[in-house]
Amino acid sequence: MPTIATSRTSVEISDPLLRIGGRGVAARDGETYTSVNPADETTIIDIASAGAEDVDAAVSSARKAFEDGPWARMSGAERGQVLSRAAELIEQNAAKLSALETVEMGKLYQHTVDGDIPATSGVFRHFAGWADKITGQSTTLPDVGPQHRFGFTLRQPLGVVGAITPWNNPAVVAAWKVAPALAAGCTVVLKPAEDASLSTLLLAELLDKAGLPAGALNVVPGLGPRAGAALAAHPGLDKVTFTGSPRVGKHIQSLAGEKFRKITLELGGKSPQLVFPDADLEQSMFWIAMGNFYHQGQVCAAGTRVIVHESIADKVVDGLVAAAQSAVIGDPFDENSTQGTIVNERQLDNIMRYIDKGRSEGAELVTGGNRVDRPGFFVEPTVFRGTNDLTIAREEIFGPVATVITFRTTEEAIALANDTRYGLNAMIYSSNLATVHQVIPQLRVGMIWVNGWGVPDPSLPWGGREASGIGRELGRSGLDAFTEEKTVHLAF
Ligand code: NAI
Ligand code: MG
Repeated sequence: MPTIATSRTSVEISDPLLRIGGRGVAARDGETYTSVNPADETTIIDIASAGAEDVDAAVSSARKAFEDGPWARMSGAERGQVLSRAAELIEQNAAKLSALETVEMGKLYQHTVDGDIPATSGVFRHFAGWADKITGQSTTLPDVGPQHRFGFTLRQPLGVVGAITPWNNPAVVAAWKVAPALAAGCTVVLKPAEDASLSTLLLAELLDKAGLPAGALNVVPGLGPRAGAALAAHPGLDKVTFTGSPRVGKHIQSLAGEKFRKITLELGGKSPQLVFPDADLEQSMFWIAMGNFYHQGQVCAAGTRVIVHESIADKVVDGLVAAAQSAVIGDPFDENSTQGTIVNERQLDNIMRYIDKGRSEGAELVTGGNRVDRPGFFVEPTVFRGTNDLTIAREEIFGPVATVITFRTTEEAIALANDTRYGLNAMIYSSNLATVHQVIPQLRVGMIWVNGWGVPDPSLPWGGREASGIGRELGRSGLDAFTEEKTVHLAF
């Protein structure tokens, strides 16, 4: 058994192989890729790297499990029990899952162990509860001549699902896809991100231990352009669900169009935080800063356009600067650190390019802006004052870079918020209910936070519009997205 050494603990894991049909297998061509610790740039381990043939084997395994495996024949209640047991096992393995995530992608250990992993088990618990409550609709219909009529709908599992996940919250995002798909009775082939695959491999093992039949969940770690591309294009899938960049999402959408295949896409954002003059700044500043700097800004829901009424702009800038300058940037396993690393060097270089662009396009750099001079991929939390037409206000940076933009009227604030290609989420800070209610219906986004910022809750839908994606995950909507509704007219 390989041991992964972190600066806090050592974690024993199974060989990092593909998981097909309930077994760990090497890639057919023996390929591997290397996982790197972003906090010190050392090699963690080599992971089996799936190619097209491996993906094909995984899809066949999922198809077999869907058509004639025990998963297809289990009752909803039995499926729910497997998912509940999985939730328990995730809780029992929280320290291990968290360490694997932090060592691979540099999120603070305290945030993975207190936040992400409990959220992961929470998602499994939520959908465990749905598994025996998947119902259709029914109604009486008008008679047809001498015949009476009655109508109802069945919600049946869609079939075999291809899921592609990102590195920023690997276990949680895998849960958003796998838990509702399994609850609905689908089977899954999951490709985790190459920057953080180990927690997903452990998650799959825990699901097997919880009693998931072989083939119901297959995991094909691998590179995006190889394993990811093969999965996205595979003709044997009934649905593809993806979280990641608009670039890849667009490609997945074009492939699905050819095949009339169902898709769910969550593609990130450039979300506005609207701060009105009557906001309780003492409370709100914490959330506004967190919305920019949490997980070094590597969050799809990050609120990186801080759109502030001009009368309080200086105060909000001061608050952000105070938060940025008090950050303790360091080893993500160290309890004293408040900022961990950027996932990899490419992502760090991207962030630095955006910061340079902010400067060269004339934004005022108020604080930060530098790579931290130490091994690893660390960058200072950064605050700009600027306008909504700057590149740093238009493109998703996926780093700790806030842009403060001012407005005079509520109409102007709404127009600025909507002036973006994205539409994932928005935050409104105000103690005036009239303002809040005026603004809510006018924002073109999938989710709104009022007087706060945070992660989605499993009981409510999550997803965006336009370049932020298509469809909804979580809650009833997230479950329905893995079923096909069949309408029946009965005449008698
Ligand atoms: P990405 O979209 O390349 O990666 C996401 C997943 O897609 C990974 O599993 C990757 O292996 C896979 N993938 C890559 N190319 C593929 C292809 N041709 N076909 C199928 N799957 C493929 O994102 P990346 O490069 O990690 O990050 C780039 C930017 O994307 C970030 O800077 C950020 O702006 C955005 N992003 C958004 C996320 C979100 O939560 N919505 C998560 C991760 C990235
Ligand atoms: Mg890494």
